[in-house]
Amino acid sequence: MIVSQYMTPEHRACDTIFAKAENLVAGGDWEQAEEAYVNFANDVLLHFKKEEETLFPAFEKQTGSEQGPTQVMRFEHEQVKGLIGKMAEAIEGKDKDAYLSLAESMMILLQQHNMKEEQMLYAMCDRVIPRTDREALIETMEQEAL
Ligand SMILES: [Fe+2]
Ligand SMILES: [Fe+2]
Repeated sequence: MIVSQYMTPEHRACDTIFAKAENLVAGGDWEQAEEAYVNFANDVLLHFKKEEETLFPAFEKQTGSEQGPTQVMRFEHEQVKGLIGKMAEAIEGKDKDAYLSLAESMMILLQQHNMKEEQMLYAMCDRVIPRTDREALIETMEQEAL
């Protein structure tokens, strides 16, 4: 398996649970919405952790640079984390308008971020990370937990 094949489906899974939470909030089903939201937040944070602690360092090691695309990706992760906190507050306060407006910002941010990773960073990882390191790298990410 190559990096993009392992990582890209995680983006899709996060999108799916995000849409589920949004529909539940829109329908006013706060209890289930909170559960879906927590699942979304945990999935995103675990995915980010795999990138920040395992994938990005492996890429940086091959390219010899921490100033390149991974720096931009880490910055965007911080923006997403900020929104995750604000959306949690909106759920807590059962504030539908606030949640839906934050959800729109989140969707735009995540879509752009994921597209950059899929089209650039993961594709570059597939090229520069040696085949011999690949399996161990994916195995390490698979073992990570929040
Ligand atoms: Fe990312
Ligand atoms: Fe990602």
